[in-house]
Amino acid sequence: MTNHSQSLASVDTPAAIIDTQRMQHNIHCMQTRMDALGVRFRPHVKTTKCSPVVKAQIAAGASGITVSTLKEATQFFDDGITDILYAVGMVANKLPQALALRRRGCDLKILTDSADSARAIVAFGAAHGEMFEVWIEIDTDGHRSGIRPDEPALLDVATILHEGGACLGGVMTHAGSSYELNTREALVAMAEQERSGCVRAAERLRQAGLPCPVVSVGSTPTALSAENLQGVTEVRAGVYVFFDLVMHNVGVCSTDDIALSVLTTVIGHQAEKGWAIVDAGWMAMSRDRGTQKQQRDFGYGLVCGIDGAVIPGYILGGANQEHGILSARRRPGHRHCRALPDRDPTAHPAQPRLRHRRAVSCLPGS
Ligand SMILES: Cc1ncc(COP(=O)(O)O)c(C=O)c1O
Repeated sequence: MTNHSQSLASVDTPAAIIDTQRMQHNIHCMQTRMDALGVRFRPHVKTTKCSPVVKAQIAAGASGITVSTLKEATQFFDDGITDILYAVGMVANKLPQALALRRRGCDLKILTDSADSARAIVAFGAAHGEMFEVWIEIDTDGHRSGIRPDEPALLDVATILHEGGACLGGVMTHAGSSYELNTREALVAMAEQERSGCVRAAERLRQAGLPCPVVSVGSTPTALSAENLQGVTEVRAGVYVFFDLVMHNVGVCSTDDIALSVLTTVIGHQAEKGWAIVDAGWMAMSRDRGTQKQQRDFGYGLVCGIDGAVIPGYILGGANQEHGILSARRRPGHRHCRALPDRDPTAHPAQPRLRHRRAVSCLPGS
């Protein structure tokens, strides 16, 4: 056992373990890439919801953050971050919370992709004397929400905002369908589709005499695959900070880059079935098995040694709430799993247990 393994041996299980060396390496690589491509980098903090991690991203050169809830925005504003993009379509009943943040001095940007939402924003802004900064969401891959770059609705929404007294801050897109890809060529093509679609939307706005200072794109796979970001002003990505097995299947990281794992303990066996039972079920590992639809299914996680190295042939194939089933035998009491989260591990303070969406890696001990 190394010193590192000994210190893990005393940790109560299940426990989320962050390999800060790997994390810092991931942060450094992404920031270096963005610097080389000449764009600002705005990390999505929903991945970790964790202030020390976000501080490390900002220390490396990130500028501003992306959030997916106004609670996250409030948490990070309280931590001193002011430049915040709330990257989920705004609805009327959330406007009072957005207003409260702006009144406290938060440079909060909000998002819309519809005329109804744009009208609600300008009406609420006028009623409260607030000039919201609003970005328009662009759909560049048919994955989720947004207005397609050539749709007439783009100019309608922008005009409602601009003439209604809002500050039209820019356009943004997220090519989430990049998670379905697994070749370099396809990823490069998707990154270019994301870039060119968002730039096209910005050009249409500018040609119509409307302001569009920001062009914001990004997901981890496209951020790591883009060869040219001409016309883009900033990139967003989140999962790259820890990586996960989904990203491994996509082909943008190796298992050695995954910085988050779950430490667990063998609590029993079913020898005739070749199972070891561990104290990490889906509450610790997440029910969301992201690799299930990919070419290689890692179940609830890969099994690793306590040193973090993957042990071939082991898998966390089954899980109940607090029990995990490993396809390998270990003596009860032996610690052996650290789990490398698949996607969107939440390591935020309010929820001490790891709840990332997919499988993990278990690091067998001793
Ligand atoms: C709007 C938006 N931007 C950026 C990201 C970050 O992408 P990734 O999780 O691939 O790092 C996400 C993730 O879902 C997102 O929804």
